[in-house]
Amino acid sequence: MRYLTLLLTMILSSHIVAQQAVMISINEDSQSPQISRHIYGHFAEHLGRCIYEGLYVGEENKTIPNTEGVRNDIIAALKELNIPNLRWPGGCFADTYHWKDGVGPKEERPTIVNRWWGGTTEDNSFGTHNFLNLCEVLGAEPYLSANVGSGTVQELIDWVQYTNHDGVSPMADWRRENGREAPWKVKYWGVGNETWGCGGNMTAEYYADIYRQYATFMPGWSGETEIYRIASGASEDDYHWTETLMKNVPYHLMEAVALHDYAVFDWSDKGPSVNFDDEIYFKSMEQALKMEEYVTKHIEIMDKYDPENKVALFVDEWGGWYDAEPEVKNGVLYQQNTIRDVMIAGTVLNTFNNHAKRVKMANLAQMVNVLQAVILTDKEKMIKTPTYHVMHMYKVHQDAQLLPSKIDGNGQFRGLPTISVSASKDKTGKIHISLVNIDPENDIAVELDMPNLDIKDIEGQILTSDKLQDHNSFDNPEKVIPKEFKDAKLRKGKISLTIPAHSLIVLEGK
Ligand code: AHR
Repeated sequence: MRYLTLLLTMILSSHIVAQQAVMISINEDSQSPQISRHIYGHFAEHLGRCIYEGLYVGEENKTIPNTEGVRNDIIAALKELNIPNLRWPGGCFADTYHWKDGVGPKEERPTIVNRWWGGTTEDNSFGTHNFLNLCEVLGAEPYLSANVGSGTVQELIDWVQYTNHDGVSPMADWRRENGREAPWKVKYWGVGNETWGCGGNMTAEYYADIYRQYATFMPGWSGETEIYRIASGASEDDYHWTETLMKNVPYHLMEAVALHDYAVFDWSDKGPSVNFDDEIYFKSMEQALKMEEYVTKHIEIMDKYDPENKVALFVDEWGGWYDAEPEVKNGVLYQQNTIRDVMIAGTVLNTFNNHAKRVKMANLAQMVNVLQAVILTDKEKMIKTPTYHVMHMYKVHQDAQLLPSKIDGNGQFRGLPTISVSASKDKTGKIHISLVNIDPENDIAVELDMPNLDIKDIEGQILTSDKLQDHNSFDNPEKVIPKEFKDAKLRKGKISLTIPAHSLIVLEGK
């Protein structure tokens, strides 16, 4: 009998619905900002199998259907995400890349040794034209990350002229010779990447001066293209970096400051992407939720120097980072993607939405076959990861108006808040509420109070699976996919629902 009681207690305690519902109030506020669609941006670096053997299979490839060498199945999958922007060519690679080596006849291009990522020799066959044409096909804004670490000011302004100048000029003429008449009008330009590290190991003070020099020579050509100059930003909690840039660079030279933050709990032992235990899961979530603190504190500094909110914060690298899968050839930073990644993406994107006043862009690292990828490939096969489905479910927030939310009585998972939320109202008046329950075991009851929102009907989608470690594989590509969620009850302007353990839900109210 004693054993039976013990067994019953164990079974009950592993799936308890919180006694007291977590209360969330959501309000309409005409002053609240628009959630920039660019928060749902992506990043593709010359790294492992992201570009070569991933996105780009070559124009001559007869086995895998492609458009100018880019896989058609990837193009179709990305179009469904409405990807708003794409950052390229790095990352650390950017500060070794010389763009002129990647234009003109392919057979005449010099090779480049990818010194940061495996020392592979690349033939420069994927260059500026491929990338910018791909962005056009996707309807995404290109974000070019320029070489400051080993490049020159002239090299950068030549790139701006090559891509953006409409009239007669040496670079615009060269572009035409290379087969492209109209300029692409590239708006987003990164001035170096991680200049505190792989981009040159600079101090914040030194980089602020270098930045001013580069930015001075980067105007739009003939007033045709509005240029956004993005300063290479801090890592995680390096507040001195942001403070130095904000203090030393005048507004008229800088449209955005970057920030990089990966969910890594130990850089020397990042742990497996799939076979992680409860302890590793907890540490990953602890790290992922720090995004809220970092963004809040970097914004506080920006507010101090820029109370008019002229300079944006771009989190242009974020995501989960684990040990690479050992069995994949040239799989530098190739990792699988599980329900843990769903939890990371859902909570981090909620943070970005809630800080939409200052956070105007973010780039998930990286798009194909690298880190928290939305797409994995294996020769002719392609799969969508669980993170792909988060981006798909959350795209409803793109360019919608933020509805400020407040959580009372949040549950605790070993000291971490269990529920995360963000909400928005789109141009057609539909309300979207994205909710994440990171608790690995407990379902959580939630009540949403929306006093000034008139909702008559509610529907939703849920993304979850039995185990945190569940993922999509080439043999089982649809193990983790969104399903209809019918258990939200609408009564007198309030919505009540129970969010299952380790689940993400997006509700739509009309
Ligand atoms: O995304 C992988 C690497 O992480 C990038 O190249 C670099 O910017 C960062 O350290």
